[in-house]
Amino acid sequence: MTLPNTLAVKSWCDDITEAIGNTPLIRLNRIVADLPCTVFAKLESLNPGLSAKDRIALSMIETAEKDGRLTEGGTVIESTSGNTGFSVAMICAVKGYSCVLFTTAKISDEKLIALKSLGAKVVVCPTNVKPKDPKSYYSRAQSLHESIENSIYLNQYFNLDNTAAHYKSTGPEIWRQTQGKITHYIAACGTGGTLCGTGKYLKEQNEYLKIIGVDAYGSVLKKYHETGEFDEKEIYPYKLEAVGKNIIPANVNFDIVDKFIKIEDKIAAHRARELAKSEGILVGYSAGAAIEGVLRLKEELTKDDVVVVLFSDHGSKYFGKVFSDDWMKEQKFM
Ligand SMILES: Cc1ncc(COP(=O)(O)O)c(C=O)c1O
Repeated sequence: MTLPNTLAVKSWCDDITEAIGNTPLIRLNRIVADLPCTVFAKLESLNPGLSAKDRIALSMIETAEKDGRLTEGGTVIESTSGNTGFSVAMICAVKGYSCVLFTTAKISDEKLIALKSLGAKVVVCPTNVKPKDPKSYYSRAQSLHESIENSIYLNQYFNLDNTAAHYKSTGPEIWRQTQGKITHYIAACGTGGTLCGTGKYLKEQNEYLKIIGVDAYGSVLKKYHETGEFDEKEIYPYKLEAVGKNIIPANVNFDIVDKFIKIEDKIAAHRARELAKSEGILVGYSAGAAIEGVLRLKEELTKDDVVVVLFSDHGSKYFGKVFSDDWMKEQKFM
């Protein structure tokens, strides 16, 4: 389409990838009524792929294209708990790449169907195996990459384009949207990209700003941050999806994080449900953990503070889990 001369600004997207980013910042009211300060939610659920992972998938793929590691007819491989896979599959569909995703048995049925609907091939791997085990989803992805020419393994845990995407986009957006008034940034931490890419940008604007990571019971991140020790005893199965890790991802920049807070599976699930009912914001399981993290900061917050909590994905991805009474009862959460 040719733009008429009178139209200076393009008012459409040439494909779905152009709709990524610039997500809204929404003030929370009822759920944070006991806090003295202002709390905003950065709604990453409103990206076209319904999560923050759209940003990193686009950044990792476009960087590989620019430096020639990915060319026409290529295959994009990733190990993913679901959201990155969805974003990668969406972008591969637009750009015409084949997409193979390795995931774990913890993935929800909804997420699995979504990935396949976007044309991806999905391989489900066991959950409770060590990362170096040849059966792990990391090892399987790596070995497929080695066996296919013109393929890339995105590897969001160690690919620093993950952090860079949030440094370039999410950080500046939040700074602009709060007019530089943000005092605390809090987000769930898995690969570390959302917390640390955004956090690094924000801390560069204001060195006094606090960066708080939300971790899970069963993950090594909090203890590693506090002691420098990788403690295998911290690792055990848990329900909270995409939060916490059993490895130390290169995208977690421990130096810029002020503290990690661990949130229990059950409380996170209830908070996600409460967000929908009290704020009308239907977001995922990790958002429940993130808002509980905010509530636990109560003693250190003052009336002038401006907290931004990032909600990573959309609640529609959890209708068979957190938003299902049956699932909640099966977990003994109700
Ligand atoms: C729903 C959800 N929340 C939180 C996270 C953690 O974000 P990050 O990997 O950027 O640390 C992820 C990552 O997969 C996610 O999918």
